[in-house]
Amino acid sequence: MKLLVLGAHGQLGRELGALCAVRGIATKLMTRLECDISNFSQIRTAIEDASPSVVVNAAAYTKVDQAEKEASLAQLVNCDGPAMLAQASADRGIPLIHVSTDYVFDGSKPSAYIETDPVMPLGVYGLSKEAGESAIRSIQDRHIIVRTAWVYGIYGRNFLKTMLDLAATREGWGVVSDQVGNPTATADLAEALLTAAEKTSGGDACWGTYHFAGQDDASWFEFAEEIVASQVAFTGKRPTLKAITTEEFPTPARRPRNSRLNSDLFASVFGVRALPWRTRTRSVVETIFAQRRRQA
Ligand SMILES: NC(=O)c1ccc[n+]([C@@H]2O[C@H](COP(=O)([O-])OP(=O)(O)OC[C@H]3O[C@@H](n4cnc5c(N)ncnc54)[C@H](OP(=O)(O)O)[C@@H]3O)[C@@H](O)[C@H]2O)c1
Repeated sequence: MKLLVLGAHGQLGRELGALCAVRGIATKLMTRLECDISNFSQIRTAIEDASPSVVVNAAAYTKVDQAEKEASLAQLVNCDGPAMLAQASADRGIPLIHVSTDYVFDGSKPSAYIETDPVMPLGVYGLSKEAGESAIRSIQDRHIIVRTAWVYGIYGRNFLKTMLDLAATREGWGVVSDQVGNPTATADLAEALLTAAEKTSGGDACWGTYHFAGQDDASWFEFAEEIVASQVAFTGKRPTLKAITTEEFPTPARRPRNSRLNSDLFASVFGVRALPWRTRTRSVVETIFAQRRRQA
């Protein structure tokens, strides 16, 4: 198996690169500067040069609030780019693995979303990601789309790192407690994508759309409490968190109240399930502080 990973400088892309290095999997990692997925000729050249057995798209426009003001850029990167990746990979007979989002749903379902639930994005980001999914399905049969949620890890920017930064400087702050989802560690997601990639090259691929997210549910408030509790051993700081409502924390983009994804199908087809998010959160915080100690 040889992977071509696009969006290699993002939090997922970097985790994929690190995991492939540990596993000794041949991988061509390309950042936005090396391959812009909104440029068809760059995509075609990247695929021709790397000659991969699978293309993995970890590139995306992920600024959920800014997307409300940059709809055409979000559409370009999250829909037109994946459409071009689908075309270029299909032209060469190479499978495509693509990552999508819980924000394709409106959050009105009372239980966790399954793959066949109707999509109904609330904002520009979700609309652009949903359009990207649809484009891939119509262009490239040999695709695996993996919807995930609330992604965090040791690389890049994410909610966990924002909470650590706040804990370093503030006595307390409010966190939204009426939106629930499944915090998903990049380590689990990267493992899931590699397993799916291995299946595509093994000849017994299971094309289609899947959900893969962290095990167990949380509100942003519960997630923040676990992050803050995990950092106490390293900083001695014990800030106080206050549960607030979505209305008390207005944002430009509307977000689903229920973002929970049911990952059972992925587990039954690919045999991989994420670890409980609390376990992963503690280990990510530990790794971040261990890295900081080494760098100090
Ligand atoms: N983050 C979440 O909470 C979340 C939740 C659900 C689903 N997802 C999905 O998970 C996937 C991975 O997200 P992530 O959290 O790793 O995102 P991320 O950290 O924002 O990384 C995205 C990467 O895409 C790159 N990129 C942007 N435009 C590009 C272009 N035109 N061509 C090539 N690369 C481009 C960015 O480049 P620069 O580094 O140069 O900016 C960045 O490195 C995405 O599909 C995202 O929609 C994320």
